[in-house]
Amino acid sequence: MPEADTEGARYQADKPQTAPGFFLKGSHQLDWGMKNRLARVFNPQSGRTVMLAVDHGYFQGPTTGLERIDLSIVPLLPNCDALFCTRGILRSVIPAESQKPMVLRASGGPSILKELSDEQIAMDMEDAVRLNAAGVGIQVFVGGEFETRSIHNMTRLVDAGLRCGMPVMGVTAVGTNMVRDARYFRLACRIIAELGAQYVKTYYVDDGFETVTASCPVPIVMAGGKKLPEIEALTMAYNAVQQGASGVDMGRNIFQSDAPKAMIQAVHAVVHQNMKPQHALDMFHSLKSQG
Ligand code: R5P
Repeated sequence: MPEADTEGARYQADKPQTAPGFFLKGSHQLDWGMKNRLARVFNPQSGRTVMLAVDHGYFQGPTTGLERIDLSIVPLLPNCDALFCTRGILRSVIPAESQKPMVLRASGGPSILKELSDEQIAMDMEDAVRLNAAGVGIQVFVGGEFETRSIHNMTRLVDAGLRCGMPVMGVTAVGTNMVRDARYFRLACRIIAELGAQYVKTYYVDDGFETVTASCPVPIVMAGGKKLPEIEALTMAYNAVQQGASGVDMGRNIFQSDAPKAMIQAVHAVVHQNMKPQHALDMFHSLKSQG
């Protein structure tokens, strides 16, 4: 017995095809592969991310807390949304079975012994694709000695990323003698976004951070910076997301904590659940005491 002819009804010709939007600021006109990679790093439900930054070795060597990434960082992988690391650490230490999105450090050159802005692109985009990266990151030294080269590095990386759908995170790298205020970060973040980075990593400032996020047309993730007492780091992360950041990319404030696993879970609650800093600190202490 042939099926009844329901073809006409099945086409639902009266309904326009769904046009899916995209949850990330300024990202709705990117290509599918780029969006898909971004949606692995940023949680589509909260629109935010907790990236764990452990790339420090690319210019600092074995930083405190990163002497043995296999022992200190691999156990934290289940608690981050993405890892920001070098390809050397990825290949040598991070288990390939991990399903966490990996954002790879793509710039380098000078060590802490030299002028840091004298960087080059330090990885082929082809290798990032080979490593199944979810993105790449690069320093941008606005106002630095090698400003033009640093910006040119980023624009070349963005061009390479666009060819294969790889998002680029531009990192505002501030020289030691430069003022870290909203005016500087507005300038640096806006330049990075205008020149094509898909998202920007920058520092929190107490005064005017909301103007930094408002004037940046793509998502901003807050950089952690030097180790602070836990309540201060949690407050900084809370303020940053309340003032428009799409999450954090924190390193030392997590892996140099007395209890890194407790700390990353507290940061996760602040970022994804808008948990207040004091409540998150209580959570930190409670998780810490449970070992
Ligand atoms: C800083 O600009 C670099 O990207 C890092 O090496 C790192 O990601 C910094 O993380 P944190 O300041 O949170 O330790």
